[in-house]
Amino acid sequence: MTSPTLLDYLKQLETRGVTHVGIDDRARSVLRELYTRGSARRPAKQAAVPADSPPPTIPNRIEATGKTAAEKIASLAAIAENWPAARSLGSLRDTMVFSVGNPEADFMLVGEAPGFQEEQKREPFVGPAGAKLDQILKAMGLSRETVYISNVCKFRPATKNQTTNNRKPSTEEMATSIPFVQAEIDVVKPKVIVALGGSAAQGLLGSDKPIGQLRDSWHQFQGIPLRVTFHPSYLLRQDEDHGEKRKVWEDMLAIMAKLGLPISTKQRGYFQK
Ligand code: URA
Repeated sequence: MTSPTLLDYLKQLETRGVTHVGIDDRARSVLRELYTRGSARRPAKQAAVPADSPPPTIPNRIEATGKTAAEKIASLAAIAENWPAARSLGSLRDTMVFSVGNPEADFMLVGEAPGFQEEQKREPFVGPAGAKLDQILKAMGLSRETVYISNVCKFRPATKNQTTNNRKPSTEEMATSIPFVQAEIDVVKPKVIVALGGSAAQGLLGSDKPIGQLRDSWHQFQGIPLRVTFHPSYLLRQDEDHGEKRKVWEDMLAIMAKLGLPISTKQRGYFQK
């Protein structure tokens, strides 16, 4: 088992806002060894679907139950928890991460898939990309409590010897969660949707065109205006003075205008060189 002192120390760092720690090769090999020993002791994953059963078909529509929007979203999350189509792939991890925010929001943001931190907290966008997203929302005068945030894949894609590393979901993996996103949109009824990054755009629009070609114009999903923009993690990889921030901001200004949100002169000028 991982030493409680190490865990305590890491948790302490996390409460102080530290999201990354540097480790050298020796520490990496010790951690890998601890992780491998831990995996060997963990019970085998529960096979929710017997190996010889036919592949489950994905229904066109999933119906939410409940009176309020919050109850309906909770009912969808409960169905997703043991979703046979996702489980039977065998390439997604077990922990389901559904959505966060206001189930009656005007603005819905759709990302890719949960990563390491999201899986731990069972909440979308809580890692470094989430911190960037919070900054964008704040600049718009919004917060994660006033919008609705979801992902095109509800499970973290698995990799061999996985520790904190993440990978993009495949088209097949996303297809198992898209009916949930459609059902969430039916419940939330947002006025505007934004697809954050290429996977979300591909999952929602079925287009694998680069973001550069999809952004800067309006699309539609289930009759709702949809904008495509770069994923917040892409912004984390850009230089400080790079124009990509401004491009995302222009997408957000277009969304604010569509939502009828007030835009100040100061806001209009953000990230201009
Ligand atoms: N990136 C995503 O696209 N979604 C998350 O929930 C976290 C990171």
